[in-house]
Amino acid sequence: MFAPSMLSADFSALGRDLQTIEKAGADWLHVDIMDGHFVPNITFGPDQLKNLRGCVEIPFDVHLMIDDPKTYIPRFIGAGADFITFHVETACDIGECLDLIEEGGAVPGLVISPDTDPSALAPWLDRVRIILVMSVYPGFGGQSYIPASSDKIRKIREMIGDRDILIEVDGGVNFKTAREIRDAGADVLVSGSCVFGGDPDENLKKLRELTA
Ligand code: DX5
Ligand code: ZN
Repeated sequence: MFAPSMLSADFSALGRDLQTIEKAGADWLHVDIMDGHFVPNITFGPDQLKNLRGCVEIPFDVHLMIDDPKTYIPRFIGAGADFITFHVETACDIGECLDLIEEGGAVPGLVISPDTDPSALAPWLDRVRIILVMSVYPGFGGQSYIPASSDKIRKIREMIGDRDILIEVDGGVNFKTAREIRDAGADVLVSGSCVFGGDPDENLKKLRELTA
């Protein structure tokens, strides 16, 4: 599955770009939320996301890169988030945040940054439905895939065993890296600069062919 990242879309014509990727068969829309604290960049908040809910019907896959997920989880669910992932590195009460996502009727997941050992996920494997593996340092689109991520994906795949958990990979997914990432065990590939750098329809088709 593919989840184009809105971060690389044209914000002056966002509705148009989202409809283009929906038509092109994107499975999810990946939505990066940054607060300028957890990562050194800022995007937008729940009110802006809510505006976009009427444009497309594909699921909104909200990736929270924020210090305080607890406060904002209910607001993003209210704005139409279908899946919510937050970082295992945040100082929040992880169990409480997963409860909040479930109580709001969204699908819960955890994100792991490049320098964090997969063992940090172990206590939560029976609670999450998505594990988002960051294959770049979070904060910016257009970075290069960190090669060590492939082993990490394989390790997490092993840890998951029979559980019903999707592995999503985010960062540096492009025509050169997609096949390797898929082969390592990813179920969902996030892609920003590759999909939106040119014709999203053609680029998604090419990514799909390369990973078939
Ligand atoms: C980075 C974001 C990514 C980003 C990926 O912090 O989480 O979702 O948009 O961009 P590319 O595909 O360009 O690496
Ligand atoms: Zn992301």
